[in-house]
Amino acid sequence: MTKRARSMIVTVDGPAGAGKSTLAVRVAEELGVPCLDTGAMFRTLALELQRAGFDPARTGPPGTPEPARCFAACVFSLEGVGVSSRLLCRGEPVGDEVRAEQTGMAAAAIAVLPEVREFMKQAQRALGDRHALVAEGRDMGTVVFPDAFCKIYLSASARVRAGRRLLQLRAAGRDADIREIEARIRARDVQDESRASAPLRPADDAVIIDTTDMDADAVFAAIMRAVREAQAAAPVAVRMRRRDRETGRDDVLKLLERGEYGVLALDDGSSWPYAVPLSYVLSDGALYFHCAPAGRKVAIMARNNRVCFSVVADTEPVYDKSFSTYYASATVIGRVFPVADEEEKKRALVLLAEKYSPEHADKAAIYAERSLKNTAVYRIVPELLSGKARLRPVPERQGTQAHSPMRALT
Ligand code: DC
Repeated sequence: MTKRARSMIVTVDGPAGAGKSTLAVRVAEELGVPCLDTGAMFRTLALELQRAGFDPARTGPPGTPEPARCFAACVFSLEGVGVSSRLLCRGEPVGDEVRAEQTGMAAAAIAVLPEVREFMKQAQRALGDRHALVAEGRDMGTVVFPDAFCKIYLSASARVRAGRRLLQLRAAGRDADIREIEARIRARDVQDESRASAPLRPADDAVIIDTTDMDADAVFAAIMRAVREAQAAAPVAVRMRRRDRETGRDDVLKLLERGEYGVLALDDGSSWPYAVPLSYVLSDGALYFHCAPAGRKVAIMARNNRVCFSVVADTEPVYDKSFSTYYASATVIGRVFPVADEEEKKRALVLLAEKYSPEHADKAAIYAERSLKNTAVYRIVPELLSGKARLRPVPERQGTQAHSPMRALT
């Protein structure tokens, strides 16, 4: 296993019909992070392979040009958070056509192929590199994100799972025979549990919840308890001393947006901390900065991409019977990645130029184009946002500094 920082990822695994999708979306909504439906990724690839005329039962393992072409065509990305999370393939939302029962069977059939599993693992990790996530599937806790900070495994009897599927189908205006659904669920269990590569099983450190006799609210409460416990135990968690000065997630993002400079703290493992002041820009919830393509910072980031970034704004000394300061500050803990994609790099350089020299915004694109070759751009993906503020009281807020509590993965 490659050494990766413990990820701000919650994994939800379990057999078909255990309620993973519904619960994972709800947990993602509560945490304010995207939900990754990895079954939908397998289903999308299964459709793509079908369209290319690839039949795993007849054609044998991939290696032939068609599957390779299908893999290359499946470029996944994620948008939104919680209930608004959307999986995209080639920039297009993955639609309801993947939800058909036969597509589920086709997905299970291709999911046994080691090449498919390897491709999916890389694709899913790439998404985990860009987002804090709730990742839902079969092997999220065991194979794809073994370093997830909280792992949930949902199970339920095949009969109860069939009953839930039937209710879903009826709600969608369709009907089916419960015995048939149960038989299909059992067949899918056998396929998922007996495949040689990444079989369905709980991770050793997963919290196993048997949902047979639980309703969705009870399962949700049990998952959130496990998440909160894992958060409390996470070594990276930043605990605020003064809870009344904590700033909510939205306020933290606004502060990062208006902040001028920040300080990037890196750990090179030598026990000498290294912190560098930087210009930066916030875009789509990530922080971008640019620097020379080589140097101490670049060397450290290549070895250890766990970083801490702090911004201070709105400072104003104040004497109010004692010496103090009004301020707002934000601390981001996350991971930093070099931006390889040229479009993303150009966009970041343009945004940086526009932020620091708005009066020359018309020349930003030319500058970005020119700097592309000899400038490195990095993206910090926050896993934990926290903020603190002591603001000048305004009449309607006289004397208060309280903000909403954090909703992020703290
Ligand atoms: O969760 P689902 O029914 O949408 O998944 C469809 C199939 O995809 C499932 O039977 C097996 C496969 N799958 C997998 O092997 N690993 C995952 N992480 C997700 C799905």
